[in-house]
Amino acid sequence: MRNILVTGGAGFIGSNFIRFLLAKEAPLNIYNLDLLTYAGSLENLKDLPEDGRHHFIQGDICDSDLVKNLMKEIDFDTVVHFAAESHVDRSIFNPGQFIQTNIVGTFNLLEAARTVWLAEPAVLNNKRFHHVSTDEVFGALQPGDPAFNENTPYSPRSPYSASKASSDHLVRAYYHTYHLPVTISNCTNNYGPYQFPEKLIPLMILNALEGKPLPVYGDGLQVRDWLYVEDHCEAIYRILQNGKIGQTYAIGGNNQPGNIEIIETICAILDQLQPDSIHVPHNKLIKYVTDRPGHDRRYAMNIDFIHQELGWSPAKDLKSGLYETVLWYLNHPDWVGAIRNRGDYAQWMQSNYTRR
Ligand code: NAD
Ligand code: DAU
Repeated sequence: MRNILVTGGAGFIGSNFIRFLLAKEAPLNIYNLDLLTYAGSLENLKDLPEDGRHHFIQGDICDSDLVKNLMKEIDFDTVVHFAAESHVDRSIFNPGQFIQTNIVGTFNLLEAARTVWLAEPAVLNNKRFHHVSTDEVFGALQPGDPAFNENTPYSPRSPYSASKASSDHLVRAYYHTYHLPVTISNCTNNYGPYQFPEKLIPLMILNALEGKPLPVYGDGLQVRDWLYVEDHCEAIYRILQNGKIGQTYAIGGNNQPGNIEIIETICAILDQLQPDSIHVPHNKLIKYVTDRPGHDRRYAMNIDFIHQELGWSPAKDLKSGLYETVLWYLNHPDWVGAIRNRGDYAQWMQSNYTRR
């Protein structure tokens, strides 16, 4: 029986990962440590199989005693660390929480693993600490620059990406200094079911459905490399199974559309799925607004290494992934309602608009 600690498993990618893992492997116990910040919700876990393999623990990775005691109490063979403050816009307006969660929280987990796992070096062969990180640590590309890869020097440019870069450095330091059995993945923009509607794709879908403005930052020609969340889960799974200790893996979607192209595509899908809506054509809702400060122009990831080493490449193409995602939000009005009523969503959206 495997014991896996997943941090941040009530968030977007973490909850998808838990669902993915429970479908993939039978004998295992998943312990999901999540603080349930505004970004995490038990709503994201409602459809998990009720077979006793998922154990939810509400708690803070910044609480070092809690994390250490948990790791002493349960003999984890694997840690998959998703928990983080993840929204770039929020990091611009409130950077302090990003330093705490992303840096101090990661440090606490590493320290707990060091203290508990390294006390018994004989068992280390069966241990694995996987750190989930982002392509944003590599900075921004200009048009025509080659894509990021595992060897790209770090150059973070927002408080979010700087805090994630710091956490990556800590993870690397624990590998080199203490031989903690770590792996790291740096992934591009995810999209799919259960994503909190402060991020581009769900925000555009839900605003368009309600006839609200679709805020395009700057000229809308910024470029992201979009990956369907299930493909990210599969990549992490392969790293856990066959990844090399101490190795970083670059993960991406192999596509680089401009933001405005993504937004136009979502509008076209909604026109097709909701032809009778008074908001058709939905792209009339597009509104250009003040740009994000320090907005990274372009991200792109070279995924040759993970493809060669672990045979992974994205299974879902962007067109069908976007269509299925729009459909998922249309088919889950209860989830949408619950999320909208939660935490500071309304307040954040309001203040965000006021700023523009
Ligand atoms: P999310 O914001 O949807 O979820 C984060 C989760 O972490 C939430 O459930 C929240 O409650 C929990 N959390 C926050 N602070 C915590 C704390 N102090 N203690 C315990 N739990 C806490 O984020 P996401 O989009 O699912 O991203 C997950 C991870 O993947 C992050 O580390 C992020 O940097 C990374 N990542 C995200 C993307 C993306 O496109 N979303 C891409 C690459 C990497
Ligand atoms: O690249 C990986 C990163 O992708 C992850 O590490 C982050 O956790 C995740 O939030 C995401 O960061 P981005 O800043 O790229 O994602 P976001 O959805 O916030 O924005 C995507 C692009 O869309 C970006 O260029 C900003 C733009 N945008 C976003 C919003 C919310 C808009 O034009 N309008 C908007 O309202």
